Amino acid sequence: MDDPTARRTSSMRASEIREILKLTQRPDIISFAGGLPNPEAFPHNELRVITNDLLKTRYSEVLQYGTTEGLVCLREEIIKRMQRHRLDITLDNIVIVAGAQQGLTALSLVILNPGDKVAVSYPTFTGALSVFSLVEADTVPIPIDDNGMNMDILEKKLEEHLQNKNPIKLVYTVPTFQNPTGVTMSQPRRIKLVELARKYDFYIVEDNPYGELRYSGEPLELIISYDKPGETKGYTIYLGTFSKTISPGFRVGWIIGPQNLIQRIIVAKQSLDLCTNVFSQAIIAEFLKKKLMDPHKEQIRTMYKQKRDIMLETMKKHLPAGVNWTQPDGGLFIWVTLPKNINSKNLLEKAIDEKVAFVPGQTFSTDGNIKNTFRLNFSNASDDNIVKGIKRLAKVITTELEKSD
Ligand SMILES: Cc1ncc(COP(=O)(O)O)c(C=O)c1O
Repeated sequence: MDDPTARRTSSMRASEIREILKLTQRPDIISFAGGLPNPEAFPHNELRVITNDLLKTRYSEVLQYGTTEGLVCLREEIIKRMQRHRLDITLDNIVIVAGAQQGLTALSLVILNPGDKVAVSYPTFTGALSVFSLVEADTVPIPIDDNGMNMDILEKKLEEHLQNKNPIKLVYTVPTFQNPTGVTMSQPRRIKLVELARKYDFYIVEDNPYGELRYSGEPLELIISYDKPGETKGYTIYLGTFSKTISPGFRVGWIIGPQNLIQRIIVAKQSLDLCTNVFSQAIIAEFLKKKLMDPHKEQIRTMYKQKRDIMLETMKKHLPAGVNWTQPDGGLFIWVTLPKNINSKNLLEKAIDEKVAFVPGQTFSTDGNIKNTFRLNFSNASDDNIVKGIKRLAKVITTELEKSD
């Protein structure tokens, strides 16, 4: 046997972010690389009380296997929260998953055949690119600007692939405070996307881990709110997660979509893990039931807003001319664009020598281009380290720019 592994592994890519994260775990490095929440944002005191209580009063249930669709009490609490977005859904429209990443894997296994076309923003979340590679789908990159995915280019690509008899089957988007750019899709584009889905008959995956982390500007309607899953065929599949609001370690997220599709996703999930961690689900359900989420969210929004502002202010003060960056209204990331001749992967090596780290932009594309960009995370570092780290970064970039003059 020359190569004992399955053919599909040839297109799999090790996540570059994970590799870089290994390096940046060195305690002397200030890392803006991962997408990690700040440990101070974990509601550990409330969780301790809930956990003790559950183990005392409901251990026989919460330590047991659960159903694949997830605990009813958690699904009910999520439905209540989603009703704030005018979503008229029932328990049959929702399945609990082990994080949005598993949700995306399960729904891709259900929808996509090898060779199917999937439109993704350019750049896009690496975890999504890994999933589409796993199911051997072909990604069609659609550029984004300050208002999110470019709908004119998307429409052109939809038409083009329809003519080629391999129509785009799914559009994957992180419309609010996108990973990696922090950009938010405007309201007219959200409406347009749903119109296009109806016209060209494709699924929209609205991946929304950051929507609740807004620090400025007015909230926008979810894409799925324009779709109304009850009234139409239901083109939008919504991915939610508690990773950024409560804890990524719990591994609890959810999928909302048309009932027939949810049924199939449940069957696919049975082959992935039988059921999502029941104990985590029960803890989160109690957290929501006790109405702890809204005050907790306010606390972390205050913390992250301050971190965002400190990072943006320090960047403005110290980064040299010729460097541009996004001004996100929420989420965890800022996207930096360097002059064209600077390669951010090479820059990272120098940055690590100066004990600061980021993620090079090419990680977020399938073609490895956009070499002059990188992503900064502002949630994980302490306020002092944000200032220190950005100053170190400014020094590295300034030296590079001087060399390239
Ligand atoms: C856009 C996006 N989707 C999904 C995920 C994965 O989330 P989860 O922890 O719920 O699997 C992330 C995590 O960084 C993300 O940025």
